Amino acid sequence: GVTGFQRVTPSQLKAMNGRKGRPAWSSYQGKVYNISPYLPYHPGGEGELRRAAGKDGAKLFMEVHPWVNWENMMGECLVGILVSEESGGG
Ligand code: HEM
Repeated sequence: GVTGFQRVTPSQLKAMNGRKGRPAWSSYQGKVYNISPYLPYHPGGEGELRRAAGKDGAKLFMEVHPWVNWENMMGECLVGILVSEESGGG
């Protein structure tokens, strides 16, 4: 649809790396989140959170704080679901 839940391909996710004025997106368990609004509030610092920008953040996240509930905290920042390259398309 025009708004709301989007289908995001890996290359689209990669482009949303938080650089050149783009938002920072990160995937977690097959869902894609806009982490940009949370950057200034991340207790571990903006730089650490930016390491997950444009890619799957699960590994970094679980290495540092597996007790934190990503889905609860980032629920309002949900962009859509990660799909394969072929099944994307706006
Ligand atoms: C700390 C949330 C992603 C690195 C924290 C804390 C929260 C949080 C709530 C405090 C935890 C506590 O004190 O028990 C999140 C959320 C993330 C995320 C919601 C995903 C959107 C990441 C990523 C990294 C990271 C990708 C990269 C490695 C850290 C570090 C700390 C921290 C190093 C520890 C800061 C300290 O105690 O000195 N994060 N985080 N976080 N986070 Fe994240």
